Amino acid sequence: MSPKPIHCIVAVAPDGAIGASGRLAWDIPEDTRQFIALTEGGVMIEGPLCYAELGKALPGRGTVVVSRDPAKRFPGAERAASLAEAVATAQAMPWPGPVWITGGERIYAEGLPLCSRLYITRVGMEIRGDRFFPRDWEARFPRLLSSRRSSQRGAALSFEVRAPLNGA
Ligand SMILES: NC(=O)c1ccc[n+]([C@@H]2O[C@H](COP(=O)([O-])OP(=O)(O)OC[C@H]3O[C@@H](n4cnc5c(N)ncnc54)[C@H](OP(=O)(O)O)[C@@H]3O)[C@@H](O)[C@H]2O)c1
Repeated sequence: MSPKPIHCIVAVAPDGAIGASGRLAWDIPEDTRQFIALTEGGVMIEGPLCYAELGKALPGRGTVVVSRDPAKRFPGAERAASLAEAVATAQAMPWPGPVWITGGERIYAEGLPLCSRLYITRVGMEIRGDRFFPRDWEARFPRLLSSRRSSQRGAALSFEVRAPLNGA
């Protein structure tokens, strides 16, 4: 079986912030719906705080939580001690869809170089963030494959699919 493609999905503020105090800094139902729909049938790779924020392993997909702490438990998810182990675990799971790098900060930093697609929602909202997406993401994913504009309560949203310079 050929390996599943590895994709990244994220929503970012203009300064690259992705969250604050362990939570998303916004509530954007349109973005949440897209996240749920795109990742369904694939395997999500996430950190323990992201797992805690969701409160469970989402149904209809596999989940691998990256943690070095063997005492932590993640019901409904596999556990991996490193991102490399998480990717190997995700590739071996029976879900047919892509492997999705879904955060947080360090998982994105380590996972982005592995990705062939970046699904990024630009959120036109200034927030006081304490977690950030890699700042050079646009240089690393310069090819805009598709974009769709929307808005929520006056904040501009841009749903983009991007690819690295080299690759399909
Ligand atoms: N805007 C978005 O699209 C988006 C998406 C995702 C998350 N977020 C936001 O980001 C924040 C949560 O992210 P976070 O960075 O704080 O936490 P996180 O990634 O969920 O968890 C951090 C923990 O992950 C483990 N970890 C991370 N990289 C690892 C590695 N390479 N190997 C082993 N373990 C690793 C470590 O836990 P151990 O100590 O257990 O080893 C580390 O303390 C929240 O504010 C959330 O809302 C936003």
